[in-house]
Amino acid sequence: MTVQYADSDPTITGKLTCASLRTGDVGKTVTLHGWVHRRRDLGGLIFLDLRDRYGLTQIVFNPQVTPETHELASAVRNEYVLRVTGEVRARPEGTVNPKLPTGMIEIEATGLIVLNEAKTPPFDINQDVEVEESLRLKYRYLDLRRTRMQRNVILRHQIVRHMREFLWARGFVEVETPTLIKSTPEGARDFLVPSSASPGNFYALPQSPQQMKQLLMIAGLDRYFQIARCFRDEAQRADRQPEFTQLDLEMAFVDQEDVISLMEQLYIELSERFSQKRVSTMPFPRLTYHEAMARYGNDRPDTRFGVELRDVSAAFAETGFQAFANVLEGGGQIKAIVMPGCAEYTRREVDELTELAKRNGAKGLATFAVRAEDIRAPIAKFLSPEELAAVTSGIGATVGDLVLVVADAPAVVAKSLSALREETGRRLTLADPNALAYCWIVEFPLFEWNEDESRWEATHNPFSGFFAEDADKLESDPAAVRAKQYDLVLNGNEVGGGSVRNHRRADQERMFGLMNYTAAETRARFGALLEALDSGAPPHGGIAMGVDRTVMLLAEEESIREVIAFPKNQRGLDLMFEAPDAVGREQLTDLGLALDPKRAISLWADGNTD
Ligand code: AMO
Ligand code: AMP
Repeated sequence: MTVQYADSDPTITGKLTCASLRTGDVGKTVTLHGWVHRRRDLGGLIFLDLRDRYGLTQIVFNPQVTPETHELASAVRNEYVLRVTGEVRARPEGTVNPKLPTGMIEIEATGLIVLNEAKTPPFDINQDVEVEESLRLKYRYLDLRRTRMQRNVILRHQIVRHMREFLWARGFVEVETPTLIKSTPEGARDFLVPSSASPGNFYALPQSPQQMKQLLMIAGLDRYFQIARCFRDEAQRADRQPEFTQLDLEMAFVDQEDVISLMEQLYIELSERFSQKRVSTMPFPRLTYHEAMARYGNDRPDTRFGVELRDVSAAFAETGFQAFANVLEGGGQIKAIVMPGCAEYTRREVDELTELAKRNGAKGLATFAVRAEDIRAPIAKFLSPEELAAVTSGIGATVGDLVLVVADAPAVVAKSLSALREETGRRLTLADPNALAYCWIVEFPLFEWNEDESRWEATHNPFSGFFAEDADKLESDPAAVRAKQYDLVLNGNEVGGGSVRNHRRADQERMFGLMNYTAAETRARFGALLEALDSGAPPHGGIAMGVDRTVMLLAEEESIREVIAFPKNQRGLDLMFEAPDAVGREQLTDLGLALDPKRAISLWADGNTD
C-alpha cells in the first residue's frame, strides 16, 4: 500500500487545499491558503508553488491581467504565508506536470493577500537535502514543514490510530495513568521531580506504567491499553530517547500465547498497511533466548541473513595454542563466523575487524583466509591440520571465505561475534532490504547474576512470572529458571517486550527474596502492588511495544528522532527550548534544594551542547 499524504478530507469542512484542484475544476474561481514553496520570476510572468500539508498548486501572476497583484507577488519570498484568489485553468500544453496530482491545472491569480512574511529559512525547506541535525532540531518547526518529516509525522499518526482501532475493536479500554509516581524499577535511572508542597521528597516519572497496569487488572478492567509516555534517564542511542512512547497493554486471564498471537496479528496488519516491504515468515518464528544467543550472539537478531555463530570449542580440546587452551580451561568458549568471499581482505581490513572485536571486549581475533592453495592464518603455525580443518571446512567455509574466531568467556564471545556478524551483514549487504523479518524471543532466563552487587536480579522486570515446571529450581538453580517473557524483534531491533506476571503474592515475594531485597525494602518499593496481589489478583500478562521504533522501522528511517515531532538530541537535550536548563535560586529554595557547585554544569551559555 502507499502511504497517503493525508488521511482525511479537509474539504468536508469546506476548506480547499493545495492538493484539491483537478481538470474538472477549470473555470472555477477559488481561494487557497498556504506557504510559498518555490517562486520563479520569468520577467513577465511570476510562478509560485503554494504549499500546504496536502500538496502543491501552481499559481501564475500575469502583469497584463492584474498589475497590482503581480506587483505584490514580485515582493513575495519563500515561506511567506499567502491567501490567493484566482481562476482555475488548464495548464498550457507542454507545461503539464504529471508528478503532481494538481499538475494538470494552475490558478491565474486575481487577488493576493500576504498573511505573513518569513525570514529566509536557515535551510532549504523545498528540497530533501542533508542538513546538520542540530540545526534541524533548533528550527524543528521549519524542519517539520519538509516533505519527509510531514510524511513521518502523519505516518505515525496513522499507525497509532490503527493500533487504537485494533484494540478498541477487541474490547480494550484506554486508561490514562499518572506521570508523577513513585519510582518503578525497569532497569534505568529515574527522572525525579521535586515539589514545593513536600520539600525533600520526589516524584519519579514512570519508566513504564508497569505496576499501574497490573493494578488495573486487579481492579477488574480486564483489557487495558494506553499510548504511554515513558521516561528513562539512560545513555542515548539512535534507537533510544529519554522520553519515548509505548503501546502499553495488559490482559487478565491470559497466557503467553494469547499476548503473542494478538501482537502478531497487529504487527502483520501494520506491516501490510504501512510498509511496502513484505513480512518474511508467518507465523513469526520463535527462538529461545539461549538459541538466539548461541546462533546470533544477541537477543535481538537480524534474521534477514545467516552468518550464524558456530561453536568450534570441541576441535580445540587438546590444542597447543596457549590463548585458546587457557580460555577452554577457564570455562570459556571458542566460536566462529564465516565471512563469505572475504578471503582476500587486506591487512587493513582485517585490522578493522580486529578493532571491532576488541571494542566489544574480545582479547583478540583469529582470522583464517580459505584460499585454493592454503589457509592463511596468523596463528596457523600453532595449530594442527585437524584444528585448521575444524575451523574452516568443519563449519562449512569454502575457498574464498574468511573465518573469524573468538575465544573468551561466553558473554564476550557472543558480544564480539554478534558485532562482527552485523558488520558482515552491512559490508556485504546481506539483509534483504525488502523484508520485514519478525521473530519472537522466548524463554528468557528469569534472573541474571549481578557481579557488582553479588545478587540475582530480574533480567526484564521483577514482576515477570516463570514457567511452573521450573519453580523447584528457583532457590537451587536460579539461572536455569525460565521467565514467561517474550520480546518481539524486527530486522535486528527490539520493538516490544512483555511477560505473564506473578499474580500470587507468594511467588512475587519469593522472587524479591532471591533478589536480596529485605522485607522493609520490598514493602517500601512494592508494598501497594504486593498488597493488591493479595486481594484477588487474576492471572494476567501483557506487553509494551516501542511506538517510536515501530514507526522508525516502517518509515525506513535510521533513527527514532526522525519519527518524533520534537525529539531530544543525542545528549538528551532539547535544542529548541534549551532544556534542561538552570533554574533560579528562588525556585530551588522553594523546593528545599541546593546545588553541588562542583557538579553543576552550564549548558547553554557556553554552547556546551553537542
Ligand atoms: P521494555 O523496557 O522492554 O518493557 O520496553 C518496551 C519497549 O519499549 C521500547 N523502548 C524504548 N524506545 C525508545 N527509547 C527508549 N529509551 C526505550 N526503552 C524501551 C522498546 C522496548 O521493546 N513494562 C515493560 C513492558 C511489559 O512487561 O509489559 C517495559 O517497559 O521497543
Ligand atoms: P597473542 O599470543 O596474544 O599475541 O595472540 C596471537 C594471535 O592469536 C592474535 O593476533 C589473535 O589473532 C589470536 N588470539 C589471541 N587471543 C585470542 C582470543 N581470545 N580469541 C581469538 N583469537 C585470539
